[in-house]
Amino acid sequence: MTNRTEIYQGLHAQLKGLLEGEDDLVASLANTAALISQELKFFWGGFYLGKNNELVLGPFQGPVACTRIQKGKGVCGSSWQENKTLLVPDVHEFPGHIACSAHSQSEIVIPIRNGEEVTMVLDVDSNQLDDFSEDDKAGLEKLMHLLQDHLYAA
Ligand code: SME
Repeated sequence: MTNRTEIYQGLHAQLKGLLEGEDDLVASLANTAALISQELKFFWGGFYLGKNNELVLGPFQGPVACTRIQKGKGVCGSSWQENKTLLVPDVHEFPGHIACSAHSQSEIVIPIRNGEEVTMVLDVDSNQLDDFSEDDKAGLEKLMHLLQDHLYAA
């Protein structure tokens, strides 16, 4: 088991505790972004929320970022449109990648759904090339399932 896999297991329990009893969207997203970015030491981690036909910057940790991304554009807009996780080992190789920061080298974007509809995405950026593995994908998707159940469960 890699070190990060162990961290993800701890994060799942921590996130559950943080979200419990909190029904405010911004508070829940802000603490989720802080937990992921700080515990895993990623360069940027946060949310883009779907509004009309674009994504708008939500709670995040890290340097200032682009505020609006059109549907289908960049890694975030593509993940939203395709309704699937996108793991990009080298952002320079991704056609249409939106460079909010020159430090970003690899990236993973995970859709958060209310039923079938993607309502927002989690975007995590690393300043290292090829920094996200299938273990990260599994760990982050599990955290986002917890978040979406918290936000949208009846
Ligand atoms: N690189 C992203 C834009 C968001 S920032 O990285 C925070 C993209 O291509 O969608």
